[in-house]
Amino acid sequence: MSKPISLTGIKPTGTPHLGNYLGAIRPALELRQKYSTVYFIADYHALTTVHSREEMQSNTHKVAATWLALGLNPEEGLFYKQSDIPEIFELSWLLSCFTPKGFMNRAHAYKDKVAKNQAAGTDPDDGVNMGLYCYPCLMNADILMFKSDIVPVGKDQKQHVEFSRDVAERFNKQYGKDIFVLPEPVIQAETDIIPGLDGRKMSKSYDNTIEIFLSSKELKAKVGKIVTNSQGMEEPKDPEKCNVFALYKLFANKEQIAALDARYRAGGMGWGHAKEALRELLEEHLAESREKYNALLADTSQIDKILAYGAEKARAIAKPFMQEIRDTIGI
Ligand code: TRP
Repeated sequence: MSKPISLTGIKPTGTPHLGNYLGAIRPALELRQKYSTVYFIADYHALTTVHSREEMQSNTHKVAATWLALGLNPEEGLFYKQSDIPEIFELSWLLSCFTPKGFMNRAHAYKDKVAKNQAAGTDPDDGVNMGLYCYPCLMNADILMFKSDIVPVGKDQKQHVEFSRDVAERFNKQYGKDIFVLPEPVIQAETDIIPGLDGRKMSKSYDNTIEIFLSSKELKAKVGKIVTNSQGMEEPKDPEKCNVFALYKLFANKEQIAALDARYRAGGMGWGHAKEALRELLEEHLAESREKYNALLADTSQIDKILAYGAEKARAIAKPFMQEIRDTIGI
């Protein structure tokens, strides 16, 4: 029996950080053991906010390089750029004709924007383009086109996957045929607990991130900025109350965790030592991927080739499926 399908959408905005890695990228890559995986770059979704040609291109290359460098194998499953599959866009319109407008009014990105405008006393739809408003319709097409069984997402995206499920159900009922698979959102709980430099959740909006592929020098400087308390070198320290240790734990194995834990509690270890242990561990984990990442970005034609190959494989699925859907609706 073939494996169930897991689909992951990656919006090419900004440079990915350790929070993205631990909370989204690593768990998504681990799914390969149990699922047939679909990973794609949601560049049409990014277009709702990214209107600079350079930024769009460089973000797309960076995010593709990140996933490839961290172990995504383009031969396994699918890896493509959303905008390379015109059938997705076609399906998006078609599904929008089965999507209640009320869903879009309730979609969280749109609602947040309206709430902000209202708080600022401006027009509620200020800065809202139709792409942002219809964002979930395009997600419906992303998800339903490839018959996804599960969609691993952050909490904020759960609602969108539920919309897809509902729309798929309406469509299937209308035509009396199980055309679409009903997708299940799988929530990545871990995302909430990855601490940034200041101990709050690692997030671009808090400006407390550690990017995945910093140079050794930049990494050392960033780790140096992790906030610690003012305990002196000789004092025993509580590892459970330390941001450095919290990050260390997310990368280390059991023995490494136990060893550093003991050093904290014994006293005689300063914050500089703890940070050095973390820095070394991060280097060990990321140095090889960083080299791959830099090599991919040094010649982006290789990334373009991989994406073109992925698009071909994805279209071989999307084209006939779209034809089946057209037949079903009588167009
Ligand atoms: N909206 C998602 C995000 O902001 C990205 C995305 C686009 C996506 N299409 C998707 C995620 C389909 C899961 C399934 O991260």
